[in-house]
Amino acid sequence: MKTDPVLIRRATEVLQRGGVVVVPTETVYGLAANAMDPTAVGKVFVAKGRPDTNPLIVHVLGIKQAQELCIEWPEVAQRLAQAFWPGPLTLILPKRDAVPAITTAGLSTIAIRSPRHQIFRALLEASGLALAAPSANLYTRLSPTRFEDLDQELLRRVDMALDGGDCEVGIESTVVDLCHGSPKVMRPGVITQEEIDAVAGESAGLYWQDESRSPGAAKRHYAPKYQVRLVKRASDDAVALVLGEARGPKHISMPEDEQAYASRLYAVLAELDRTGVNLVEIERPPDNWTAVLDRLNRATA
Ligand code: TXA
Ligand code: MG
Repeated sequence: MKTDPVLIRRATEVLQRGGVVVVPTETVYGLAANAMDPTAVGKVFVAKGRPDTNPLIVHVLGIKQAQELCIEWPEVAQRLAQAFWPGPLTLILPKRDAVPAITTAGLSTIAIRSPRHQIFRALLEASGLALAAPSANLYTRLSPTRFEDLDQELLRRVDMALDGGDCEVGIESTVVDLCHGSPKVMRPGVITQEEIDAVAGESAGLYWQDESRSPGAAKRHYAPKYQVRLVKRASDDAVALVLGEARGPKHISMPEDEQAYASRLYAVLAELDRTGVNLVEIERPPDNWTAVLDRLNRATA
């Protein structure tokens, strides 16, 4: 998808005036506002219907801009950012006082990521702003990975929306805590704890997820309207996401590679949302598909 300079200029004006813009990222679509403007950030919470206890991720062009938002930039942050930015990795660090409390939901830490999508980067560059952006879904609903999957009600509540085509990664970024010793994954994504340990040169031990440390990582999340059941093998007559080839008339064939699967997952779930189906079976992927299993478990919770 081409970056249209006219649209980037218009979106920049909207953001500089304190407006809210839907932007494509390589993971999922986001709902962006000036991270340093509490009124603008407030509009994001309202548009999403999100409780103000859930902190937002602040998006930056790169390391230099990230350093302006946190009081410490440890060696491990430098290494991880150099290895994975721009890309689907979010780092949690101690925040500076200049970052408004509403952006981080009153926490003393801030989540920072440098996105890879060229439209988002063009916007960061043109505006010079740090952009707070949660996923562009209504609270507890599916994150959109295609422009056509954006909720119409949500679109009415924002000032502008940029179409960036389909999101390549398809699930939200890996969130890594750098404030409590070795880097720990708080929300799994396509960048794994093992890859992080390899770059960090230290290991956090077992992957863990502690809800008290990741506010907003609610159990039921990423939820479609129908009931989802994780199964070993889908029945032949069920509406089902199957691994590999379809065996029934209502089976949807999913890739057997984790990244390819992740890239399609939300689009397929959103498509099914529109059919009015009541129950969808999903064949359980292998145990080592940590990020995909996390999203599937939340969809079934
Ligand atoms: O891929 C993504 O990360 C997308 C795109 C738009 O960048 N964004 C996204 O944002 O998924 P959101 O708001 O839907 O999820 C943010 C996650 C939540 O789980 C939240 O709890 C965590 O990041 N988070 C944000 N700030 C935090 C902080 N200071 N400490 C701990 N967790 C934090
Ligand atoms: Mg979200």
